[in-house]
Amino acid sequence: MLSKQDNEKMLSLMEENPDAREIIQKLQECHKVTLSKVSHELRNSLTLINSSMQFIQSSHPEVKDFPHWYSTMEDIKNLIILLQDLSAIGNASKLRLNTVDPYASVKAILESARSLIENNHIQLEADCEENLPCFQGDETKLREAIFNLIINACDAVQENGYIHIRLYKEGSYIIFKITDNGCGIDEASQELIFEPFVTTKKAGTGIGLPLAAEIVRAHGGILTLESEVGKGSIFTVKIPY
Ligand SMILES: Nc1ncnc2c1ncn2[C@@H]1O[C@H](COP(=O)(O)OP(=O)(O)OP(=O)(O)O)[C@@H](O)[C@H]1O
Ligand SMILES: [Mg+2]
Repeated sequence: MLSKQDNEKMLSLMEENPDAREIIQKLQECHKVTLSKVSHELRNSLTLINSSMQFIQSSHPEVKDFPHWYSTMEDIKNLIILLQDLSAIGNASKLRLNTVDPYASVKAILESARSLIENNHIQLEADCEENLPCFQGDETKLREAIFNLIINACDAVQENGYIHIRLYKEGSYIIFKITDNGCGIDEASQELIFEPFVTTKKAGTGIGLPLAAEIVRAHGGILTLESEVGKGSIFTVKIPY
């Protein structure tokens, strides 16, 4: 994985030398395509194994009692999800553009997140401005990015969990801000968690945030984080319109 210093070196090389810029951009593209192809192929094979196992289970229900049967099925399902996410990282910057109405989008996201929030007894407050300017973007991917942030906020809060969602306009940007009163993130981890596979969760894959950041970047936007341990976190998505 590239460190912050590596990234800075790479950016200055790209700025100084147009040939270096071209070759680095080609390498980055190749890397994404490879990641996406490999995960796609592996996922296809695993999906076949999964359906064969389901078929075996439906014709021989007694296999459910076999040692390790259930955990193997679960492992396969989790791997399929992981590969789906990995392939999504490779494809995050390929946008299917359409006209996005920020207010309608956020309303739909909140609707999808409702059961998650209610089941976890989290107090949700939403301040969303209506009639904000529409912009050209990939609504499905943006929803996925924002949904990942909401799931993370839900995971971070405990008793008296509180999540505040704001949607507004600032200059030529649409801002989506999600604040939680969860565990917070220490300074050393604040950069790390945007790298793939960094997770503190038992069942986490560590892909949600890097994927969200990649999707936001692909829209010419930026995803930033402010956080304090024990107080909570604020993730801000800024998308130009
Ligand atoms: N709102 C938050 N509050 C506290 N920690 C957070 C928050 N959002 C993310 N994190 C930390 O960043 C880590 C990485 O988040 P990320 O979404 O990339 O992966 P994940 O949630 O662990 O797994 P998944 O791939 O299922 O999303 C989390 O494991 C958690 O430690
Ligand atoms: Mg996550």
